Parts: sequence; C-alpha cells; structure tokens
Amino acid sequence: MKIGILSDIHSNSEAINSVLKNIKRVDEFICLGDIVGYGADPNYCIEKVKDLNCKCVGGNHDFAVVGKVNINYFNYAARAAILWTSRQLKKDNINFLLSLNKKIELKNKVFAVHGSPQDPILEYILDKNTASLIFSKFNFKICFVGHSHLAGCFSLDENNNQIDYINYRNGGRIEISKNKRYIINCGSVGQPRDGNPKASYGIYDLKYGIVNIYRVSYPIHLTQDKIINAGLPKSLADRLSYGR
Ligand SMILES: [Fe+2]
Repeated sequence: MKIGILSDIHSNSEAINSVLKNIKRVDEFICLGDIVGYGADPNYCIEKVKDLNCKCVGGNHDFAVVGKVNINYFNYAARAAILWTSRQLKKDNINFLLSLNKKIELKNKVFAVHGSPQDPILEYILDKNTASLIFSKFNFKICFVGHSHLAGCFSLDENNNQIDYINYRNGGRIEISKNKRYIINCGSVGQPRDGNPKASYGIYDLKYGIVNIYRVSYPIHLTQDKIINAGLPKSLADRLSYGR
C-alpha cells in the first residue's frame, strides 16, 4: 500500500500536474491543505484534489478564503491573494473547503495535519524545541505535516530521547525505525521555500515502512505569467524562481 502525500499546492496547476505525472503508482492520496492561496488556479486545483478522491485536511489559506481564519494573520501579498481567491471560487469549491477536517488518521498512530497536532491550522514546526514539545504531548508514530513548505523530518529516538532533524530539500528516503517517532514534512507542491524551486511531494510505503520525498521540475514561467496576468502581487511570481 502506497500513499501519495501532497501539501501546499497553492493554486499552482502546473506544479500539481507535473507531480501527478511523475507519480508512477500509488493506491491513494492524502492532501495536507493549502490547496489555494498565492497562485492563479484555485478552482482547477480544488477540482484536481476532488478528482483524486483523497483524504484532505484544510490549511490556513483554505480556511481564510472561506472566512474561517482571520486574514489579519497574513502578510500583504498573502492577504491580497486570499481576497482575490475568494472572489474566484465556484460555490461547489467553497463548500468543499468548508467541509475540510483539521486532522486525519491514516492508520493506527499515523496522522496528518496541516500545521501541527496542537494547532492544526496555524502552528509551524520549525525547530527541535517545538518538535520536542509535540512529541511529548501527542502519542503518534508518524505525523505528516505541511505549512512550512520545507521538506524535512524531525525524529525522536525513544532509546535516548534524542531529536534529530534532516533536511530533504533535494529529496531523499526515510526508513521508519521501530524505536523512533517522526514528524515528516514532504514539502510544498506549489510554492517550495527551502531554496529548491522544484515541486515537492512524498510517497509513504506502508508495507516497507519507507517515506520517499521527491522533487520535480515544472514550467515555472507559465505559473508566473498567470499570477501576473491575474493582477496578483508580482512578489508571488518572483519567489517561485528561487524556491523562497
Ligand atoms: Fe502553505
């Protein structure tokens, strides 16, 4: 059983299409939220996620465009894109975003959230202190997260209580160990921020206990043209070139 892990698509149709083309075979998909925001193809990306029939949680942008998260949490460019997106969305797609849960359980003790288990919508897990607190407060084997747009993995070794972090900005392979627990971010499909502009996604192989993270090229200039033609802030187009 293989699960494709998609997060932070951010209305980037070129990135999601390149990722889906790159994925050879999975049995199902999960989506960790922020389907919309920043990019110019919100309806297309929501419909793509619906077509995949995947388990999906909502992210801060998904909930902000339907009025469930205050837009004052966002910077100027993000806020402009949220207001623009909320004007574009079809009724069905608004209802889809409104229906999203904050947390999903894949199997015994394997969970998925957008931000973190203690604040699924807004909290970023960026350092070992935050990861340590979350490992101590929540009893999971693996928690898949998105939100930071940084591909990487925190692990807790239960033999010595040591926490490690490995950056997966160029992709890589995580072998799930019996003695460890994990917080895994498979990176962002549509707006990577780890210095690698390629789209990022993961595949979790439950049978072998392996998570692979992959990076895929996509036609960034097409996405940038659409953002500019839509009248969205130019900075949202520019950052895609750098993966920041
Ligand atoms: Fe995001």
